[in-house]
Amino acid sequence: MTFSRITGLGYYVPENIVTNNDLTKWMDTSDEWIQERTGIKERRYFEYGKDTNYSMAAAASRQALERAGLTPDDVDVIVYATITPDYFFPGSAFLMQRELRMDGKPVFDIRQQCSGFVYALSIADQFIKSGMYKTALVVGSEIQSSWIDKSTAGRNTAVIFGDGAGAAVVQATQDPNHRILSTHLHADGRFAEDLFVREPGSSRAGRTATTEMIEEGGFNVHMNGNTVFKHAIVRFGEVINEALEANGFQASDVNVLVPHQANIRISDYVRQQMGLSEEQVVNNIQRFGNTTAASIPIAMAEAWEEGRIKEGDLVCLAAFGSGFTWASALIKW
Ligand code: UT7
Repeated sequence: MTFSRITGLGYYVPENIVTNNDLTKWMDTSDEWIQERTGIKERRYFEYGKDTNYSMAAAASRQALERAGLTPDDVDVIVYATITPDYFFPGSAFLMQRELRMDGKPVFDIRQQCSGFVYALSIADQFIKSGMYKTALVVGSEIQSSWIDKSTAGRNTAVIFGDGAGAAVVQATQDPNHRILSTHLHADGRFAEDLFVREPGSSRAGRTATTEMIEEGGFNVHMNGNTVFKHAIVRFGEVINEALEANGFQASDVNVLVPHQANIRISDYVRQQMGLSEEQVVNNIQRFGNTTAASIPIAMAEAWEEGRIKEGDLVCLAAFGSGFTWASALIKW
């Protein structure tokens, strides 16, 4: 039987560090408020002219491929998650494919917001288990700093988000002891407008991108933070338990939990519910903020580099975000 396994991880974050104090230049906020409510101390913003969504993804992918001992030629398919693509269309997967000179190879652009990476990983896992592809590049990449509203009106979301990219190489294996055990995906469109950006939408009376739409805030992030928070703490636990039950494990069997970096308070709540130690839960939101689809692969790559994820570990990935979407993956490393 064919399974899939993560054989390489990589990430890229822009050099430009933006601290909470830096944000106070643009909006009425404070380091104290941001740290207390979110845990975030600083985040990275891309450098215009140097970084693009796809170039960051390519950098992360090159590192992941090198660590897997592969080259872009060895990859059969790209699954690329982002909500902040370089163009409205075609997606950034095409641009990264061109950058990595993978002409002719199929690419998928998916959204799924903060759950994007776990959805992308699941897609790759299904393709590999079905035998259609042997090697997939799974990517999450975001440039959010260029569209967040950095005035006081946008402060409840602007302080959260950061830029960066992460990538995983996923390969076919026959080894049942080191593999992705299962993935679990969910969505609930009833809450679509509780965390969303309306424009540039197509279902509009006139052309998209008029000055009025910009002035009315149509291009800004709208979030009912409280609603998102309340759903997140329930769904994280549910989808983690679903993965554990599907494989006959309990929370105490998990060695490492890599949660989407939404808010340190959410991660801490989930950690306590599961009875895990701080060391077992990967948190880098303090340094990178919430990088949406990139947050899990960046956190996973860092944890692997630091030796916190080791062969034989039971690793759980879990995400919740706009849509609403929520998802988990259980991996025997
Ligand atoms: O990754 C996708 C999923 N996203 C999430 O999981 C985010 C989930 N939500 C959250 O993490 C929290 O809702 C936030 C951290 C975003 C906000 O925390 P909150 O405790 O829900 O704050 P709030 O929006 O209810 O606002 C409380 C107060 C308000 O002032 P008043 O009305 O009480 O006077 C806000 O105006 O805090 C004010 N506020 C701020 N003050 C300083 C909101 N944002 C800021 C800010 N700086 N950045």
